[in-house]
Amino acid sequence: MSFITRRRPIEPPAHAGHGLKPTLGWPHLVALGIGAIIGTGIYTLTGVAAGLAGPAVILSFAVAGAVCACAALCYAEMATLMPQAGSAYTYSYAALGELIAWIIGWSLILEYTLVCSAVSVGWAGYASGLIQQAGWPIPAALLTGPETGGIVNLPAVFIALVVTGLLLVGTRESATVNFILVCVKLVALAAFVAITLPSFDAAHFQPFAPFGFGAEQIGDHKFGMMGAAAIIFFAFYGFDAISTAAEEAKNPRRDLTIGIVGSMVACTLIYMIVAAVALGASPFEVFSKSDEPLAFILRQLGQPVAASLIAGAAVVAMPTVIMVFMFGQSRVFFAMARDGLLPRRLATVGKRGVPTSVTILTGVISAIIAGVMPLSQIASLANAGTLAAFIATIAAVMILRRRLPDLPRTFRAPVIWLIGPLGLLGCAYLFTSLTALTITFFFVWNAVGVVVYLLYGRTKSRLAEAV
Ligand code: ALA
Repeated sequence: MSFITRRRPIEPPAHAGHGLKPTLGWPHLVALGIGAIIGTGIYTLTGVAAGLAGPAVILSFAVAGAVCACAALCYAEMATLMPQAGSAYTYSYAALGELIAWIIGWSLILEYTLVCSAVSVGWAGYASGLIQQAGWPIPAALLTGPETGGIVNLPAVFIALVVTGLLLVGTRESATVNFILVCVKLVALAAFVAITLPSFDAAHFQPFAPFGFGAEQIGDHKFGMMGAAAIIFFAFYGFDAISTAAEEAKNPRRDLTIGIVGSMVACTLIYMIVAAVALGASPFEVFSKSDEPLAFILRQLGQPVAASLIAGAAVVAMPTVIMVFMFGQSRVFFAMARDGLLPRRLATVGKRGVPTSVTILTGVISAIIAGVMPLSQIASLANAGTLAAFIATIAAVMILRRRLPDLPRTFRAPVIWLIGPLGLLGCAYLFTSLTALTITFFFVWNAVGVVVYLLYGRTKSRLAEAV
């Protein structure tokens, strides 16, 4: 079989000495999901997206949420069918062949690393607000990257490295810490809604779509409802990171379904409410310029204490997102290395069940990017990688339904011949709504990836050895 089309079997292979421990139950998985989904997207990018679309950002949330819902159902089917580390990479390997799987894995490496960076920058926005309020003598040039007039975003570098350290302590401890912090994050958003709701002013919704409903490139950004959807899409994903933990689930078939679908539905509802309340409380032109929009709105409403508490909660809880994506990243690397497409040394799991070298590598690279790049650029590039992974996963579900209709599927995505094509079209449309620079960089990244594959993975693949 050609290297392009050779496929991994659906049954999990035996990996002597390379297995991950099954330590996670469904509450941990839902917490992993909510922990990964609610973060910089709602806390910070809501402002960026509102600046691109105006009040129509509410519809951007709906579009991005609908596309993610189609994808989430497909992820649930694939994750229960193949409860193995590697997420979209592993699914593509079984359905679409090795070359596409490699491209998806390579895109996931880009996505996960950049999400860690983007959330670190979002975290730094709230942390810098608190640092300045407390009067700490840190020069402003060390609180933001070069593109925004500083030298390096030191708080962003700091948090990326701290989370790396936490993960190195071990999966179980990290998941438990994550669980507590998810609660903090949810309480903070509920408090934001309760405090700002009385100030709701419907006049802030006029005009509703000042930049139109499409995606029009003006300068470095794509304006309009779809342009904003392509950015705010960032706020919705994270449920896919749960599927990368599939091998560590105690009862994968039941727990993953609850984890992926449950966390997706809960988060979509929360977002719609928070965004509507934020827009009702403050004109979008005003809060969209802030690096800490939710705290900014509260300060504007004369609630400085509540603003500090929300900022504090964001600072304490947002690292859960970084944690989940670093966790996911190390597992994608792990899966690719175990399949022989990356050096197998990288699949070595330390005493605490964590792939050490990959976790350190991811942490350091995320920290460097977070230190120097602006949030919207990092987020939109992360979105490009995610959209590629979503497209592959939806396609994998449809192909396997045709090719292997009798596989025992614990969870079947409903009306797949409707949600599948809708999801594919939605992802493709969001992809084309990204900026030209983002799309170019994405293709350059994957061109480099294909060269790496041809030089290494093509001959080192376990499937190549099996021939
Ligand atoms: N959905 C995650 C966030 O908004 C990536 O931070």
